[in-house]
Amino acid sequence: MRNLIDILDLTCEELDELIALAEDIIKDPKKYAHAADGKILSALFFEPSTRTRLSFESAMHSLGGNVLSVTGAGSSSTAKGESIADTAKTVSLYSDIIAMRHPLEGSAFVAGNNATVPVINAGDGGHCHPTQTLADLLTISREKGRFDNLTVGFCGDLKYGRTVHSLISALSRYSGVKFVLISPAELAIPKYVRYEILEKSSASFFETTSLEEVIPTLDVLYMTRIQRERFFDEAEYERLKDSYVLTVEKLENAKKDLSILHPLPRVNEISVKIDSDPRACYFKQVENGKYMRMALILKLLQDAENDKTKKDEFAGKKLVVNKFRCDNPRCISSTEQELEHVFKPVDEEKQIYRCFYCEAKAKNN
Ligand code: CP
Repeated sequence: MRNLIDILDLTCEELDELIALAEDIIKDPKKYAHAADGKILSALFFEPSTRTRLSFESAMHSLGGNVLSVTGAGSSSTAKGESIADTAKTVSLYSDIIAMRHPLEGSAFVAGNNATVPVINAGDGGHCHPTQTLADLLTISREKGRFDNLTVGFCGDLKYGRTVHSLISALSRYSGVKFVLISPAELAIPKYVRYEILEKSSASFFETTSLEEVIPTLDVLYMTRIQRERFFDEAEYERLKDSYVLTVEKLENAKKDLSILHPLPRVNEISVKIDSDPRACYFKQVENGKYMRMALILKLLQDAENDKTKKDEFAGKKLVVNKFRCDNPRCISSTEQELEHVFKPVDEEKQIYRCFYCEAKAKNN
């Protein structure tokens, strides 16, 4: 039985299989109308969502399955202090598969390691959002026909934008990809993405603050919202919130076959005048997200049928337990009862360890 916590849990071959399955669902949805008859998806959303929650629900209904939903942090016993581990164990008794969104980084991993059914990470704080990446990949596949040799610009909040982290992870495995990272210095890509993903891949990357300078070079432009809910300082958000607004004028110098993506929701970072431009793909992404989630649900339910044993995600990994403490206040280890502080070595020579849940670097090592 498998979870999807990080997009790297899926091989490139498995991504190809999911895309092929989603394409077949698009072609012949009736063929899949009873594929999950009698199965129950629990959608646990402890943070706001429109697309991810409703597309999971719509996906499960379109497969003939049923849905149980928790919406909002106040509507379940987590509001009384119940741990994610206990919640996952409990919800496993009512459902065949769980999709969970939670504000703390690493929360989906903890849910997955305690549930007895497959768990899908529907967004864990500012960390990862692998099912948005599935939607993004199907969109890029349909628009460009390939993932390699693309120049992909990411613009906006690259620090807290979990969809950015997951899509960079996914694309970094393809050859000839060039990443152009466009953000204010305060919202630059997190260090773990830079050092553990970009620098360890064959991809090239370039950082800039100017969208105008680089827009002519891009094949894909991935715009993002400044993530107000992740800021500790409202004044800092106000200062940065209008850093980038894509307008019709700015697009004049872009390639004619540019694909403009955005995970949505949009605030003001793409002018609505661009929505009618054939290069705008963000509402296609929304639709593609449903089909990829249908494909993913089918894959994980099938894997669970074939192998009912739950993998211990720590097993066989070189880990350091309780030697350091994670000082990221957004990490699940800051709140979860009796959760061990687990770190993984990422550079043994330099003695660099990162938190297993949130990727924060261990201090004092
Ligand atoms: N892209 C995305 O995650 O949207 P929602 O927050 O509406 O689910």
